[in-house]
Amino acid sequence: MNTDLVVRTFIEYFEERGHRRITGSSLLPPTGDPVLYTTSGMHPLTPYLEGRPHPLGSRLVNVQRCLRTTDLDEVGDDTHLTVFEMLGTWSLGDYEGSLSLEWGHDLLVNGFGIDPGRLHATVFGGDDQVGPDTESLRIWQERGVPVELTRDENWWSNGPTGPCGPDSEIFLWTGDTPPHSTPTQDDRWVEVWNHVMMRHRRHEDGSLHPLPRANVDTGLGLERLTTLLQGKKSVYDCDLFEPWMRLVPPLWHLDELSLRIVCDHLRSSVVVIGDGVLPSNTGRGYVLRRLVRRVLTTLWREDPSRSLQDVPLELLEHTLDHFQQVTDVRTVHEVLLDEERRFTGLLERGRRVLSKPRFTSTLTDTDYSYLHDTHGLPRDLVVLLRTDL
Ligand code: SER
Repeated sequence: MNTDLVVRTFIEYFEERGHRRITGSSLLPPTGDPVLYTTSGMHPLTPYLEGRPHPLGSRLVNVQRCLRTTDLDEVGDDTHLTVFEMLGTWSLGDYEGSLSLEWGHDLLVNGFGIDPGRLHATVFGGDDQVGPDTESLRIWQERGVPVELTRDENWWSNGPTGPCGPDSEIFLWTGDTPPHSTPTQDDRWVEVWNHVMMRHRRHEDGSLHPLPRANVDTGLGLERLTTLLQGKKSVYDCDLFEPWMRLVPPLWHLDELSLRIVCDHLRSSVVVIGDGVLPSNTGRGYVLRRLVRRVLTTLWREDPSRSLQDVPLELLEHTLDHFQQVTDVRTVHEVLLDEERRFTGLLERGRRVLSKPRFTSTLTDTDYSYLHDTHGLPRDLVVLLRTDL
């Protein structure tokens, strides 16, 4: 089952159950949103989860691209990507979380053909503010799915304030042995689908208040599910990365981790640029700058003559097409090359300055401030120049 078929199967399943498909938004949240990038499918829907009627009704489904800077350090493992896609469903004050879990189980087992014996669920066990989620527990027990109760791991929020609630997560066993242990004890249990009973709003003072209506918000990681359905070990082996894994290794000889980081960060940079962001020293642009520069430092560690000039446009095109972005592929490539030129210039200047006797021993905070204020060399770059390059 390729990615497109996974998306179609998911969307049709929920359309048959009265959900209307909404168009996924870009990675840029609406003006006024303090978060730099859209981090989940629910993110653009926050006003509707807080009570505003949605023009398409109370049952929604979509596929939304997301970027989580909090996951950046985990990129390179088998399951995390910087830009990823989330299949989502919402009940805006319509059906209950228990029905959402029943459908979730049915779709995974009967729609996607997953062996029910490879599933595990987690459920909110209660804390001093909110009681245990007995409804979700009942659903899983009725279906014979093992359940682990937790507190913090099963509470979902999109930030310190705003809509939130207990969640129930569905995990799939990826080990070579028969399933055993539990999701918090063994990371061969991979989370694929989160169902949030979004009934509360957290206020500035930390207090919880009921939302005007009880919602359900679910998110299923597209690349993770596709990878598991295709019987692959890592997201880089699923069809979405096929052209990357075919074209990048002959271009640059890289160890496995570096290859994954280069492919993930380049692909994510293309999507970010496709959504209208340019590299800069602040905010969104800074996230993009760091992605491109990490690609460059990874490439140059072994061979400083490598250049993004050599990236096949086919890869950029494949990504823009997949995300249905209309930005011209040459424009995207030019943005990447501009950033490469800028970074090269900065490194040359940095090397010259850092070779002065004053900077050859341990640097003090005053040195770092001077290098930043006088020579435009940020601390992380100085550290990098003194270690990696
Ligand atoms: N908001 C939840 C998540 O991001 C479910 O969509 O996991």
